[in-house]
Amino acid sequence: MRFSVITLFPELIEYIFSKGVVGQAHQAQLIQVECVNPRTFTEDVHKTVDDRPFGGGDGMIMLVEPLVQSLNSLISPQAKVIYMSPQGVPLTDQKVTELSSEKQLILICGRYGGIDQRFINEFVDEEISIGDYVLSGGELAAAVLIEAVSRKLPGVLGNQQSSEMDSFSNQRLEEPCFTRPRECLGQSVPEVLLSGNHKKIQDWRSKLRDLVTLKKRPDLLKMNSLQISSLKRFWSAMPDSEKKALGLDHFPTSSLADQTDP
Ligand code: ADE
Repeated sequence: MRFSVITLFPELIEYIFSKGVVGQAHQAQLIQVECVNPRTFTEDVHKTVDDRPFGGGDGMIMLVEPLVQSLNSLISPQAKVIYMSPQGVPLTDQKVTELSSEKQLILICGRYGGIDQRFINEFVDEEISIGDYVLSGGELAAAVLIEAVSRKLPGVLGNQQSSEMDSFSNQRLEEPCFTRPRECLGQSVPEVLLSGNHKKIQDWRSKLRDLVTLKKRPDLLKMNSLQISSLKRFWSAMPDSEKKALGLDHFPTSSLADQTDP
């Protein structure tokens, strides 16, 4: 996967591919990340990349010409051009998975008051937002997208299962996890995790994912009445000490009644 970022602040992007999972994927050449600065394509002494908005108003608007030249320096026939914008479609797990099958993503990062609409009309395939709030530029949003998409690519996490078990895959959140010591802060690691019975652990983890999703993000979950009864039995049979260790002791059992698919 090739990530090409058009930005006035390449340092903000370069940092993310020097570190962590994205850094390793970059080193292993599983991903390529490149930045192009529109300032490179200015000819005046001040290297002007923006101008005042027609009709007045706050903020400077990024000029079309340096953006077009930046894009021309990057584009390949398979490239998908994305403008990072709070007005875009939300970056969900599903969107991330969809993007992970592209060959090249060109991410346009706006600054100041935004970019000239005519550039968007002509060249942008999709606008993407990372949330309903406004950042001072698209760089942090582009970094989030690069990190999230990279995690989906084969080989990046070393173990393909890891991204399948991440929160949001299959519309479920991740189950709680524990490490040594077995006992701390007056709480014990759930017995089943010490049993060595992988099938039992897998079933238990799957139910836990349902319970945690129901507790934290009930909007994600749709279950039929059989699944709900089974989950209710599972939760009722759980010792109080285990509920506490799992962070589920204040779990409202009444919510188990509300999740039936119509
Ligand atoms: N640029 C500014 N705010 C943004 C957001 N919320 N998502 C994506 N790009 C942005």
